[in-house]
Amino acid sequence: MISKIKRIDRVVILTGAGISAESGIQTFRASDGLWENHRIEDVATPSAWERDPRLVWEFYQGRRRQLLEVDPNPAHDALVELEQHLDEFLLVTQNVDDLHSRAGSRELIHMHGELRKLRCEECGDVIVAMGEEDLKEEYVACTNCRNERLRPHIVWFHEMPLRMRDIDIAVADCDIFIAIGTSGHVYPAAGLLSVASSCGAHCIGINLDPPQNVGLFDEFHQGKAGEILPGLVSQWIATEDDE
Ligand code: OAD
Repeated sequence: MISKIKRIDRVVILTGAGISAESGIQTFRASDGLWENHRIEDVATPSAWERDPRLVWEFYQGRRRQLLEVDPNPAHDALVELEQHLDEFLLVTQNVDDLHSRAGSRELIHMHGELRKLRCEECGDVIVAMGEEDLKEEYVACTNCRNERLRPHIVWFHEMPLRMRDIDIAVADCDIFIAIGTSGHVYPAAGLLSVASSCGAHCIGINLDPPQNVGLFDEFHQGKAGEILPGLVSQWIATEDDE
């Protein structure tokens, strides 16, 4: 177990739905999770969008409106504190909510896209669209071209996650890799742990249940992220004066 993280340590964090669970956002694979009530192939693939855009749009509009009702929790805040302690830090999230940025995280990659944004498949424009008009059931039109129907800026199944090159470089170079609240089922995110481990990083897992790749962690802390992460971060960044 590490007891301290030094300012010069290069740290990469990977978060998943579990870190937002205590803010009231459903995870995907729990018994009451999103994928229990919605079939992935109906709402989260490019062919679903082609076949039944109305269903896909309503699914994501509901999730987009939910962002207005939730707030960051102590686990999101603890990662801001950790970032402020370090010279080199990257937070990679699979989450499409905006809770990390609202908490104050700066070096942040949303590898699966962002609910706050919409994208034009005609001209490529990506816009932040969270006004009252943007959150209704009607489609939102592109303001740059004639497309009447922007799509959610979400990486669907069969699509490539965003900024994989930046992520791969940071993970291969890091000293400490910390995965929080992710079940390790979805690739390429799930493969980052084995990359970090094989490149010599110290790997830490924090999760409610042991994820399927738990054996690759050098240390694993079982519990709710909002309850255990603040204490771990305080311990990692404590200076001798604090002790
Ligand atoms: P999952 O729903 O697969 O896993 C969430 C993990 O968080 C589980 O292992 C839970 O045990 C754990 N968990 C739940 N509550 C927690 C808490 N309070 N503290 C810590 N851990 C907790 O979600 P992801 O791993 O994020 O992709 O799923 C990965 C991807 O699959 C998502 O980004 C999404 C989904 O399909 C796309 O939509 C492309």
